[in-house]
Order: sequence, then structure tokens, then C-alpha cells
Amino acid sequence: MGIKTATLNGVATIEIARPEKKNALTSAMYQAMADALRAAQADPAVRAVLITGQPGVFTSGNDIEDFMSRPPASGTDAPVFQFMFALVECDKPVIAAVTGAAIGIGTTMLLHCDFAYVSDEARLAMPFVSLGLVPEFASSLLFPQLAGQARAAEKLLLGDPFTGADAVEFGLANAVLPAGEVVNHARRIAERFNSLPPGAVRDAKKLLRGPQTEAIRQTIRTEAELFAARLRSPEAMEAFQAFFQKRKPDFSRF
Ligand code: COA
Repeated sequence: MGIKTATLNGVATIEIARPEKKNALTSAMYQAMADALRAAQADPAVRAVLITGQPGVFTSGNDIEDFMSRPPASGTDAPVFQFMFALVECDKPVIAAVTGAAIGIGTTMLLHCDFAYVSDEARLAMPFVSLGLVPEFASSLLFPQLAGQARAAEKLLLGDPFTGADAVEFGLANAVLPAGEVVNHARRIAERFNSLPPGAVRDAKKLLRGPQTEAIRQTIRTEAELFAARLRSPEAMEAFQAFFQKRKPDFSRF
């Protein structure tokens, strides 16, 4: 189904595993990730959550076929929002091992993880505008705060890709590691929470995230309304068709 979960030595691992489609995320996969995050939160044996992908790809973002044929309705009931809110609300540390390409939500979910370790082969990108869409997952709020307005314009308006080293410079990631080491390193960081007091970790995480929580939720809702409308726009349809026809989109008629 594309998501593998396992809990071992205090760490709940959520592995995105759909390599034949570059780990593109379907509604069913978002729902599975949301359920896994909620289960990890409720399980006292879990001290931290690790989100990882496949060698060479973390995730190519939302499944574009799903965008075309099953676009989420406006509002925030769809599985993608269940996942987003489960991640935003997770009171245990979440560590991302970015094993390769991280496109769209693959990059924006890092804004809500507590730690991110990135493979030296990874490329990150938020190409929402090139797809006829708008930023999501509070990236329009959080990314400019981290990287500054000038760089946010490059990454969110032009959709320019960037490296793991750039992500570290922006404060979006902790470190770049050789591709073969990124998962083990992230797991070692997650396992460190086994020897820390879980109540203090929970309270400290709440303090680190606290002041912005309501602004983040509100921004996600505002973005979601625009995003849902844009998914049905002729601009987005042109971009999606171009992707599957393996050609450049032509926006000259809009
Ligand atoms: N949704 C649906 N299918 C996707 C996909 C996505 N987001 N990303 C990749 N795929 C599919 C391709 O259509 C292709 O399917 P096919 O073998 O049936 O033709 C397969 O996965 C392999 O992808 P391909 O593009 O050939 O791999 P690549 O190594 O050349 O490039 C990426 C990898 C991730 C750079 C590229 O696939 C990509 O840019 N994907 C789309 C990213 C995107 O715009 N995501 C949405 C963000 S909101």
C-alpha cells in the first residue's frame, strides 16, 4: 500500500515505500501516515517517530494522478490534512531521514519535524506555483521566517530546487550525511530520546512550537481553501497533463 510501519527500541518508524512512483503520496498513504502518527502518540512505549523514504527518494510529493482525478474537496477533512494535523499536533519528537528527492510536501513536512537529516544526494523543491498551485502546510508562513523573504521568493514563487546544504543553511535541516548513513544517523538521534524524560521532552517541544501553533493552523486552513480552488484551475490541469505527457507546460494562453 506504500507505507510501512514498525516500532523498535522506542522508535516508531514510518517508511514511505512506493519506489516505482518515486514515493508519490496517495490519499490512502496520507491516511496510513496519519494513523501511524496518532498511534505513536498514544503508545507509551514510543519515545520518538522516524519518517523515512527509499534510497534516492524521500517523496516526490502528492500523487499527481490523485490531484487530477481525486482532488481533495475544500475544507480540511481529506487524508492529507489528517496527516498534516497529526504531524503538527504530535507531542513526541519527529525525526526525518531525507533519503533523496523531497518534492512538494516532501519538503514542507520538514517544517513540522523537529529534526531533519538529509542525504548528500537529495534535492528539495516546493514547485507549487509551477504546478498552478499555492504553497501548503504553512510553508507560506514558516519558510519566509526561516530563510527570509528573498530566498522564500526563489523557492516558493520560482520553485527553484535546493540542496541539503542549502536546507541546513536555511535552518530547515540539521545536517547533510552520505546517502548510506542518513537513516542510521536519524535513528540514532531518535533513540537518544529513550534515555531522556518523556514528560520534559513533551513540555519542551510544546514550548518550542507553542507561540506559533494557532497561526500555523490558521495558515494551513487559508492555504487549503486556495489550494483546493487552484487544483481545479485550467493552469493546474495544464501542468498535470504536461507532467504525464513528459513535456514542458505551456501557460502562454492564461
Ligand atoms: N505523482 C505521480 N506519479 C509520479 C510522481 C508524482 N508526484 N512523481 C513521479 N511519478 C511517477 C512518474 O510519472 C513515473 O511513472 P511511469 O514510470 O509510469 O512513467 C515514475 O514515477 C518515475 O518518475 P520519473 O519522473 O520518471 O523519475 P525521475 O527519476 O526522472 O524523476 C522526480 C524523479 C521526483 C524528480 C520526478 O518524478 C518529479 O519531478 N516528480 C513530480 C514532482 C512533483 O511535481 N510533485 C508534486 C509536488 S506538489
